[in-house]
Amino acid sequence: MLQIQENVSLKNFNTFGIDVSAKYFVEISHEDDLVELFMDPQWAHTRRLIMGGGSNMLFKNDFDGLAIRINIRGIEHRINHEEVFVEAGAGEVWNDLVNYCVDREYAGIENLSLIPGSVGASPIQNIGAYGVELKDVFKSCRAFEIATGEFKTFTNEDCRFGYRESNFKGELKDQYIIVSVKLHLSLIPNVNLKYGAIEQELVNRNITSPTIKDVSRVVSHIRVSKLPDPSTIGNAGSFFKNPVISKEQFSPVQSKFPEVVNYPAGDAVKLAAGWLIEQCGWKGKVVGHTGTWKNQALVLVNHGGATGEEVYSLSSQIIDSVYRKFGVLLEREVNIIS
Ligand code: FAD
Ligand code: EPU
Repeated sequence: MLQIQENVSLKNFNTFGIDVSAKYFVEISHEDDLVELFMDPQWAHTRRLIMGGGSNMLFKNDFDGLAIRINIRGIEHRINHEEVFVEAGAGEVWNDLVNYCVDREYAGIENLSLIPGSVGASPIQNIGAYGVELKDVFKSCRAFEIATGEFKTFTNEDCRFGYRESNFKGELKDQYIIVSVKLHLSLIPNVNLKYGAIEQELVNRNITSPTIKDVSRVVSHIRVSKLPDPSTIGNAGSFFKNPVISKEQFSPVQSKFPEVVNYPAGDAVKLAAGWLIEQCGWKGKVVGHTGTWKNQALVLVNHGGATGEEVYSLSSQIIDSVYRKFGVLLEREVNIIS
């Protein structure tokens, strides 16, 4: 029997540590629980929020609906020659899945080590780090359709992955609850060292033929040196996306700021938002209970007792100042819940 709780604090369920509550709260540990939940017409017509680890959310106020926390567990794998298919429940912690694979030397997600959050949320924004995105290894996911109560499988193509994008953030938004994710990994240890910082750290450690485990360790080390640990300083990782702009838009920016950090992105150019924000003088700045992180200006933090409104207001000020200086519009990457 499902337990629907009332007026539940979400402070420990969002990595920003914002002190808000949900009017109703339910934890789902089996996919049948979803069928049971939505058989009750009350919930089909109540505002809903699907939650994993709450590590990519900013609550502006209390949530006046039903928060559904996905806690479906289980990891299984199947090996076919040098291919490995790993399927995990949406409620598994993403980094536990990474460790499961790294320990067994299943290659493909070691560059995504230490990303917070759940397996079920990983396709939503196509998580990415250090030269790899989920889409590079994603086979399919199984999802519950709220309107029909049916389960559907989405292939990699169906998900229309892009940089911090998927169909689940677009036309399918709020219609499906992901219950499991299947990845296509490999027994061939083809490590991906495209990201300069990884190569540099391997040199520092005198590692010339890195293994999957080496890459995972190095990525974890780099992340810890740059990013605040949410268990001590509230944050949701990068608050904004790195803006992708056309070459025409980039040209005047580059003429005026030749040192602008940028990367090719197909026909367009991706700018390092952290650099833009730092150039506007925000890096490490403390504003009331909030601010930007001292080692990474792209990360907004809760220094303790911040409200979601405060963090949001700081993000608006940053957007304004970056736009005034560079004519580039930053887009929030974190999901704003209001
Ligand atoms: P939540 O915050 O709970 O939810 C995020 C979104 O997904 C919401 O819209 C929610 O409704 C939806 N959702 C969650 N679960 C489901 C489900 N089962 N079915 C349908 N919808 C669902 N991200 C990166 O891509 N790369 C990084 O390097 C990275 N580094 C980070 C570092 C730090 C310190 C932090 C705090 C965050 C970082 N992030 C990064 C962001 C975050 O880790 C990812 O977005 C992660 O996938 C969020 O998982 P979650 O379970 O916490 O999702
Ligand atoms: N930079 C600055 N100042 C800063 C921060 C960055 O000048 O304060 C410049 C530096 O030149 C640095 C460059 O920006 O070399 C890139 O910085 P970093 O390597 O830290 O990566 P990022 O582009 O800021 C992105 C992702 C991260 C991901 C890392 C590693 C986005 C929005 N963010 O950050 O993802 O971990 O690359 O791949 O794409 C997240 O999504 O939450 C997240 C942390």
